[in-house]
Amino acid sequence: MKPNAHDELINGSLLHQSVTERLDTAEANPVALDNELLELIFDLYDDDRDFPYQKIRKFSIGEILTYLQATHRYYLTKKLPEIEQSLLHIFSRYGKTHELLAELCFFFNDYKNDLIEHVKMEEREFFPYIKRLVKAVQGDMPKEEIAELLATASIAQFTDHHDSIEDELKEVSIIIKRYSEYETTPLPYRVFLNQVELFELELRKHAIIEDHVLVPMAEELEKKLRGQ
Ligand SMILES: [Fe+2]
Ligand SMILES: [Fe+2]
Repeated sequence: MKPNAHDELINGSLLHQSVTERLDTAEANPVALDNELLELIFDLYDDDRDFPYQKIRKFSIGEILTYLQATHRYYLTKKLPEIEQSLLHIFSRYGKTHELLAELCFFFNDYKNDLIEHVKMEEREFFPYIKRLVKAVQGDMPKEEIAELLATASIAQFTDHHDSIEDELKEVSIIIKRYSEYETTPLPYRVFLNQVELFELELRKHAIIEDHVLVPMAEELEKKLRGQ
C-alpha cells in the first residue's frame, strides 16, 4: 500500500459517508436523489481529474440544485458547528498556554462568516435566478418578464464573483502547520487539522459541481432565451 493510500481510503470513505449523510440531514424530509447521479457524485469525490461532466449534465437542473442545496444545509447546520466545536474544545484545553489559538479562533470566525455569506448569496440570488431561467425556458413566463429577467442578472455576473471559498480555509492549515514546526502538535490540533482539511476537500468538490455542472447548464438556458 502506498504511504498515503490508507489516508486516501479513510478520507475517501469519510467523504462518501458525508455525501449520504447530507441527503438525510433533513430528517423529516430526506432528499431522494437518483442513484445514478449519486454514483457519479461518488466518482467525482474519488477523483475529479478528467471527470466526464457531461454525464452529470444530463440530469435536470432541478436535481442538481436539490443536491447543492442539501449540501449547503449540511455545511451550515452540521459541518461548520462541528468544526467550531472542535476548535472550542482545543481552546478550552490549550487556550492559556498556546498563543496560536487566539489567532486561529479569529481566523476561523472570519472564515465562517465569509462562508455563510457565500452560501446565502447563492441561496438568495444565484439559485433563484437559475430557477427562473428554467421556468422561462419551460414557457411558464411572459415575454416581458423574460426580457426583464435577462436584463437584471446574468450567469456571468455570478461567476465573476464566485470566489473559491475553500482556498481561504487553507490558511487554517497553514497556521497550524507553521506552528507545528516549532513544537509538537497536541493531538486535538491534529484532529482539528484533519477535520479542516477534509472540509476543504469537500468544499472543493462542491465548487466543482457548481462551476462545471450547474453553470454550463444554466448558461445553456440563458443562451436559448437570449436567442429567442
Ligand atoms: Fe455553494
Ligand atoms: Fe459556491
